[in-house]
Amino acid sequence: MKISIGSDHAGFELRKKLIDKIASLGHEAVDRGPFASSSVDYPDFAALVAEDVVNGTAERGVLVCGTGIGMSMAANKVRGIRAALVYDTETAKLSRQHNDANIMCVGARTPSAAIAPQLLETWLATEFEEGRHRRRIHKIDSLAASMEGWEGMPNVHVVKHPLIQHKLCLLRQKETETRHFRDLVSEIAKLMAYEVTRDVPLSEVDIETPICSTKGKVMAGKHFGIVAILRAGLAMAESMLEIMPGARMGHIGLYRDPQTLTPVQYYSKLPKDTAERSVILVDPMLATGGTIVKAIDVLKEAGAKGVKVVSIVSAPVGIKKVLEAHPDVEIFVAAVDERLNDHGYIVPGLGDAGDRLYGTK
Ligand code: RB5
Repeated sequence: MKISIGSDHAGFELRKKLIDKIASLGHEAVDRGPFASSSVDYPDFAALVAEDVVNGTAERGVLVCGTGIGMSMAANKVRGIRAALVYDTETAKLSRQHNDANIMCVGARTPSAAIAPQLLETWLATEFEEGRHRRRIHKIDSLAASMEGWEGMPNVHVVKHPLIQHKLCLLRQKETETRHFRDLVSEIAKLMAYEVTRDVPLSEVDIETPICSTKGKVMAGKHFGIVAILRAGLAMAESMLEIMPGARMGHIGLYRDPQTLTPVQYYSKLPKDTAERSVILVDPMLATGGTIVKAIDVLKEAGAKGVKVVSIVSAPVGIKKVLEAHPDVEIFVAAVDERLNDHGYIVPGLGDAGDRLYGTK
């Protein structure tokens, strides 16, 4: 297991001991410093370790300051982090069994410092008990979500319609078979299309009903460009196209370079008049955000303005990355999950959407 570890000046020496302990247990320490013993601010190092855990660079984290208190306060501000101040064997065990703590904090200026390596060993070896504890963890997460409110950000829309949430719940379940999974993705895509098109301007036209002349409203200007990121975005895009038949469909193919881990474009076919259309970019998963950032780059090179990203499940780190690179886009998701694991999968997520859509695993 990869363990990200950081400290402040007060935790400097104990951190070194804990790094040795991590190695002796056969795990890998990702040392986030500091690398000199001069005075530093613990929130800076809490942030580095917490980032590693939420973006999946490390599976768990360890933070050491004088008391462990400041580190736990700081780390717990990061969505998806459950940092526990551990000071004896019971708290080392229970913070894993009941709280699924993903960061252990320890105080180097407290009596527990002397037994910190053993506490770490226990903490690393103890599994989460699931069951009723999972329900409580969800409540912690929704507390964080309601306080932080992605919806509060004008360009992030978490679509909470009961129909979407119900279908998402089915989608997440590992028993859901390929055929059913594909149907659910298509249905969710159609429902999300309502949200994405909510503010499309309408213009008035004269029409004849079988009874009389009247005025009707139609969508103004050129219709949409729906762009699928291959391959997982295909099912969503085609489903949206069914209810927006005036739209044109584009495709962008990207793969991840195994050396640099950056997305590389291998295919792109966009509507000729992309610059004149509102573009809806679809990919069921917004995980690291790397692929979507690159796809928006490609769209903007083709002149696209006002891009709307539609994903089903997202991770906070991915949303952040997309908005940092492209603050002008709007993001529509059905859920903002907890974090990424060290394979880059969204947790709890729904697995690999492409594989589940096409039955390739
Ligand atoms: C640093 O002097 C100390 O305040 C810090 O290590 C930590 O104990 C804060 O909670």
